[in-house]
Amino acid sequence: NIGKSTNILWHDCPIGQTERQKLLGQKGCVIWITGLSGSGKSTVACALSRELHYRGHHTYVLDGDNLRHGLNRDLSFKAEDRTENIRRVGEVAKLFADAGTICIASLISPYRRDRDACRALLPDSRFIEVFMDLPLELCEARDPKGLYKLARTGKIKGFTGVDDPYESPENCRYVIKKRNFKLKGK
Ligand code: PPS
Repeated sequence: NIGKSTNILWHDCPIGQTERQKLLGQKGCVIWITGLSGSGKSTVACALSRELHYRGHHTYVLDGDNLRHGLNRDLSFKAEDRTENIRRVGEVAKLFADAGTICIASLISPYRRDRDACRALLPDSRFIEVFMDLPLELCEARDPKGLYKLARTGKIKGFTGVDDPYESPENCRYVIKKRNFKLKGK
């Protein structure tokens, strides 16, 4: 029965989301930021968290890179591990929202199906998807961690956008774009 719990029951507590939200004076939700490596997800997540914090809101950032140091340290970048990564973070984000926190999740989350599964965990109004719509060319030109360079020279295999897929969101309400840019030497 690995992966499927049986004979388990749900235990309710007298203090629930309503009580917690009342105490915090806000509604818990998940803001899910998806996009290629180097598209600025973490920067936007932290800026948003800072803005909201100084306006008196409780926030928490779940960053893909950071979570892979602990909770998700056992996961690789192959497709099924990425799916498990997103599943776990979706569940954790849901708990944060249940706690009344504005949870900002920032992960590549390359597969539409996995992001949809996270959305399905919450009512529509509590899951806000944000797409960092930057062209691969620009992410690669920025290459803040030097990872694209390693991927292009074959030192990293299965790098998103290079030799691994990224499925853009369709009809995403919140899209952050950067289109007009000049690459060095062009
Ligand atoms: S995923 O696809 O959602 O499971 O990825 P995520 O957990 O967000 O982790 C992305 C960060 O891992 C680094 N990294 C890679 N990214 C993509 N593909 C491969 N093969 C890879 N190997 C390491 C990279 O620093 C990503 O960070 P960001 O912030 O996105 O640049």
